[in-house]
Amino acid sequence: MIALGCDHGGYELMQEVKAHLDKRGLAYKDFGCYSTESVDYPIYARKVAKAILNGECENGILICGTGIGISIAANKLPGIRAALCTDCFCAQATREHNDANILAMGGRVVGAGLALKIVDTFLDTPFSNDERHKRRIALIEEKD
Ligand code: RB5
Repeated sequence: MIALGCDHGGYELMQEVKAHLDKRGLAYKDFGCYSTESVDYPIYARKVAKAILNGECENGILICGTGIGISIAANKLPGIRAALCTDCFCAQATREHNDANILAMGGRVVGAGLALKIVDTFLDTPFSNDERHKRRIALIEEKD
C-alpha cells in the first residue's frame, strides 16, 4: 500500500499520480488534501509518515509546490527517509543507496510526464542491501 499526501501546490500533480497508479493496478491510500484550497503541508507529511511508521503503508509519495517543505516535514519523524527528486537518476539512487521510503516532488517544478517516470523509477527500484549503505542508514538514525 502506497501512502499519498499533498498540499494545494501538489494537488493537481497528485491527481495524475493517482490515475497512473490506478493504471498500474497499484494500491494506495490518499491522506489528502482533496482540493486546491490552501492548506498546511506539514499536516499531510505527518499523516503519510505515520502510516509508514505504523506499518499501514510500505512507502509514500508526497507533493507540495516545491517538494521542499513537505519533505523537510516528513524527515522530522525518525525512520522516515523522504527524498525530493526532480529526475530519474536521483529516484533510482535514493532507493538503491538510501532505501528512501517516501518520494517527494514539487508540483510546480516537474511536469506530469517526468513526474510519472520518477514515480515508476522510485517504486520499481529495490534497495541495494549493500553493507555500506545499511551502515550509513543506521548512522542516520543514531541519537546523540
Ligand atoms: C505553498 O504555497 C508552498 O509553500 C508549498 O506548497 C511548498 O512549496 C512548500 O515548501
